[in-house]
Amino acid sequence: MTRPDGIPPHGGHLINRIATPAERREFLEQAGDLPRVQLDDRALSDLVMIAIGGFSPLTGFMGQTDYESILTDMRLANGLPWSIPITLSVPDSVAANLKEGDWVRLDNPQGQFVGVLELTQKYRYNKAREATNVYRTDDTKHPGVQVLYQQGSINLAGPVWLLQRESHPLFPAYQIDPVESRKQFQEKGWKTIVGFQTRNPIHRAHEYIQKCALEIVDGLFLHPLVGATKDDDIAADVRMRCYEILLEKYYPQNRVILAINPSAMRYAGPREAIFHALIRKNYGCTHFIVGRDHAGVGDYYGTYDAQYIFEEFQPGELGIVPMMFEHAFFCKRTQQMATTKTSPSTPEERVHLSGTKVREMLRRGELPPPEFSRPEVARELALAMNIITYEI
Ligand code: ADX
Repeated sequence: MTRPDGIPPHGGHLINRIATPAERREFLEQAGDLPRVQLDDRALSDLVMIAIGGFSPLTGFMGQTDYESILTDMRLANGLPWSIPITLSVPDSVAANLKEGDWVRLDNPQGQFVGVLELTQKYRYNKAREATNVYRTDDTKHPGVQVLYQQGSINLAGPVWLLQRESHPLFPAYQIDPVESRKQFQEKGWKTIVGFQTRNPIHRAHEYIQKCALEIVDGLFLHPLVGATKDDDIAADVRMRCYEILLEKYYPQNRVILAINPSAMRYAGPREAIFHALIRKNYGCTHFIVGRDHAGVGDYYGTYDAQYIFEEFQPGELGIVPMMFEHAFFCKRTQQMATTKTSPSTPEERVHLSGTKVREMLRRGELPPPEFSRPEVARELALAMNIITYEI
């Protein structure tokens, strides 16, 4: 179905849970009397994503029926595909002071009032079960599992309101929420748009698969994740600078939109690939890039597990088309980026790239070679990691 605002959001309607001025006034008046829950960075970004419609059709933190249904069937209780639980977990001591039916004041990690939860349900959940079903491992060294085991054991559920949509402190110009991205796609006359998820500094394999995809569709929506990541990932401001530098010189300006994705990384590999695709559908993308080990970490997932998982849904059911790419490398024989689908090279003639490798090289004090990174990006990364302090 074509609509004036493009592809339908997941569930059919773009959710808006940003309080109206009247609601906001009312919430502010009541704020002093409401029980409080302090959100961590991830829960705060989940609240924001729900409010701006990035997690449509969710209107709040999940209740037990949806939660259980997602763990077992990768679907909400109403049958709609959904792969990652969006829950607000608190310790027993906090939950003990809240009762179902309460209105709860949600504070950000700095203690400021940012939202409201109408508590419809609180329930205990099984962390080991969530770990094995969502992350495919209960190894506490896995960064997503680690967060799960550190969080509280009671989930609070119910609809939420975000008090107001604040500008992003670091990237206000790139804060393009789903309503706005849909508008921009329409203004540009793009009918097909490919979304790109990333949490790493852009390297040449990224550039290659983005441009291969862009050969097929009208526009590229570069959507780096800037919410919580694990400690050894490169900081979002450095990654965004790399994108700015690269876009200026190496990309057609009128075919690309760079915007931030406020959500937190889960590192859930295959299930997160589905989640990432649904988020980009809400932003108005018709296609979504899934390359090698998408949203993976360490050796927990097979190289293409995040692609195979799309086969568990009926064609068209997700409402966004995955564009799958094989592991891309620099082919020394043909002197260009390629995959085994397009390159006649022997394994020795391939320079394999990954965000992890780039990070490792930088930590060893080495600059990534031009087969890995464009020199402008290598320079920016080296400056950020204090490997060089002067112009190269
Ligand atoms: S992710 O955790 O956000 O997936 P990353 O930023 O490294 O990590 O990857 C962004 C996207 O590029 C993902 O779809 C990933 O599968 C893809 N990708 C990264 N490196 C390669 C590569 N060498 N070949 C093919 N796809 C890749």
